[in-house]
Amino acid sequence: MHELIGIDIKHAENHFDKKAFEAMKTKVKDAHRSIFEKTGPGHEFLGWHDLPETMNDTLLSRIKKTADHIHEIADTLVVVGIGGSYLGAKAAVDMLSPYFKNDEDFEVIFAGHQLSSEYLVQLTQVLKDRDFAVNVISKSGTTTEPAIAFRALRKLMEDKYTENEIKERIIATTDKDEGALRELADKHGFETFVVPDDIGGRYSVLTPVGLLPMAASGIDIDDVIAGAKTAMDVYRYDDESWNAAEAYAAVRNLLYDKGKKVELFINYEQKLNAFTEWWKQLFAESEGKENQGLFVSGASFSTDLHSLGQFIQQGSQIFFETILHVEKPNADLMIEKTEDNLDKLNYLTGKTVDYVNDKAYKGTMQAHKDAGVPLIVIDVENINARSFGSLVYFFELACAISGYVLGVNPFNQPGVEAYKSKMFALLGKPKVS
Ligand code: PA5
Repeated sequence: MHELIGIDIKHAENHFDKKAFEAMKTKVKDAHRSIFEKTGPGHEFLGWHDLPETMNDTLLSRIKKTADHIHEIADTLVVVGIGGSYLGAKAAVDMLSPYFKNDEDFEVIFAGHQLSSEYLVQLTQVLKDRDFAVNVISKSGTTTEPAIAFRALRKLMEDKYTENEIKERIIATTDKDEGALRELADKHGFETFVVPDDIGGRYSVLTPVGLLPMAASGIDIDDVIAGAKTAMDVYRYDDESWNAAEAYAAVRNLLYDKGKKVELFINYEQKLNAFTEWWKQLFAESEGKENQGLFVSGASFSTDLHSLGQFIQQGSQIFFETILHVEKPNADLMIEKTEDNLDKLNYLTGKTVDYVNDKAYKGTMQAHKDAGVPLIVIDVENINARSFGSLVYFFELACAISGYVLGVNPFNQPGVEAYKSKMFALLGKPKVS
């Protein structure tokens, strides 16, 4: 079967020997089997593993219907959430929408993903002149950042709309029966979608958490799920074969064992920047525990070659690169001849911008390889809803395997609570009795 996401590890292979690779293959296979058989730590959070297959059409239809209704009554959807309740939707919307919008285009805006007062003030000012709806997303229903943004948006709605209008403009995505948001939604009769119990925040992009904002932004969510389903079939556990998700998990652990403590996730297309943020959360929260794990970071080339490039070429060699390489852009532009050639670019006449981007990619790989940086290339043919679904599933699976190889539970995030308890102490938050 054709693997829809390819991997090229040949530019990393001289950093580990064949024996280490063979030993790692066994560990990876064991890790993948325990995911498949649901026997590893945190196995109660493996709902994402079969999700593309178990996703039901009734739910997908309801999501699409709700998105259509939002378009009927609003020109803007504000998606309120943070972490796993924000990053996947933002990754999809940025990756799959045009870079620029016209005034009449429907807009999806994100809020509740930070505590900038200026952001909220400016957002509420802009929304005063718009017809907007809100999708508030919180699995726990108690997270401070989205709760504050949601309160401000509800206040604005109260000034603008009647009670009945507010009711049809707010959609809550939360736990099926617990948490403050569930209570609020039930009390006010908001439409709700459920975050499944067996899926943690960072693995929830293919649930209503990600799918409703995607549908509202015009993304074909059937294609997203179809792409994830194809990846599920291609990268499914199999005793005999060795697949790209397993190879990725293996190589990043081998490089980590060799002292490469930082993984830089690279794109050559800026609309993938939010995907990098999603990927960062996935790996950082899954593996960064018990004083272990790769520190994950990202860069967009060629932009960051003019900033981080110096460090990559000549700084401390503590990192490797994982390059998300898109083979074909969705649009391209011919470079035209000019008579005066003052910018000295006529040697590129008739070539396209993507031709130049491709040479930047190949030249940079060569330069970084010469500097001793290990490189992993993850290849995808082009950017669309299907490849988004496939990439999400590919990285979720690779991350879970990689976490098990490292020896941690990739489905919890105990460290995230530390800043909250200090912040709550400073805020004087009353203890729940
Ligand atoms: O992955 C996680 O569990 C976290 O990043 C959460 O998604 C994030 O903290 C938001 O939590 P909640 O959806 O409960 O508001």
